[in-house]
Amino acid sequence: MKISIIGYGEMAKAILYGMKSGKWNMESVEIAGRNEEKIKKLSQEFGCKGILIDDYDITGKTVILAVKPYALQEVSMRIKGEADTLISILAGKSLVELQKYIKAKAYIRAMPNIAAKYQASTTAVTGDEEAKDTATEILSKIGDVVWVNSDDEIDMATAIIGSGPAFLAIIAEAISDGGVYTGLKRDIADKLTRGLFKSFSAIGDNFADIKNKVMSPKGTTAEGIYELEKEGVRGKMIKGIVTTYEKSKKI
Ligand SMILES: NC(=O)c1ccc[n+]([C@@H]2O[C@H](COP(=O)([O-])OP(=O)(O)OC[C@H]3O[C@@H](n4cnc5c(N)ncnc54)[C@H](OP(=O)(O)O)[C@@H]3O)[C@@H](O)[C@H]2O)c1
Repeated sequence: MKISIIGYGEMAKAILYGMKSGKWNMESVEIAGRNEEKIKKLSQEFGCKGILIDDYDITGKTVILAVKPYALQEVSMRIKGEADTLISILAGKSLVELQKYIKAKAYIRAMPNIAAKYQASTTAVTGDEEAKDTATEILSKIGDVVWVNSDDEIDMATAIIGSGPAFLAIIAEAISDGGVYTGLKRDIADKLTRGLFKSFSAIGDNFADIKNKVMSPKGTTAEGIYELEKEGVRGKMIKGIVTTYEKSKKI
């Protein structure tokens, strides 16, 4: 399979890292973009072919589109031909829009996150059935793949998966700040908070069960949860996810 990655930003690099460490044949991968220097640097680093995007022929290739969402139209004007499969990771750009701008036999939308760099992304994916195996094969190199049912669900997943690391970073920082407020040194509070996230990801129970197991009658956790609920932390979190989803529909 001939893979072509259009774009060489953070997500493109993360996918390249994943493919390389997953023992992908990097000689079958091309990196295309508009800046010769950047293409040269990255193609040397990953042992791929680097190509300028102008008049770039995507025919017969599996194209991973990893440019900024607003660049879709400009990129489409610079390339030619028909890809075998187009896998777009662009936030907010629907399958219909992709079909309008870039020719391909099959279309996939995927939403990874920055943990792709550590092969720890959970990537939400949707699109044409015939490209499912190809997309899963590539995207599983950067972590887990979760198939969702529609374009709209990718936008919903964007709020959780794409933006989620930023939301959790705010929560982690606040938890650590709370520890410092009570008297812990910053480095210890940070270390404990990081450990907390690691511990949490290891617990397979559903979320309500985790809370119920920790929250005992008249206990310390119950006191903290009462305070958080009084401040509307749950409603604020829900609102944050909903607002992010709505914004992704406007890109
Ligand atoms: N970052 C995340 O957490 C995340 C998560 C999920 C999905 N995404 C999606 O992934 C895509 C890339 O994000 P990123 O974080 O990798 O961004 P990034 O690091 O800023 O890289 C953006 C890439 O887009 C290229 N580009 C921008 N305008 C262009 C144009 N007019 N023509 C050709 N190339 C153009 C840039 O090339 P130049 O350097 O030449 O400008 C660069 O290669 C976005 O669509 C985003 O929605 C990002």
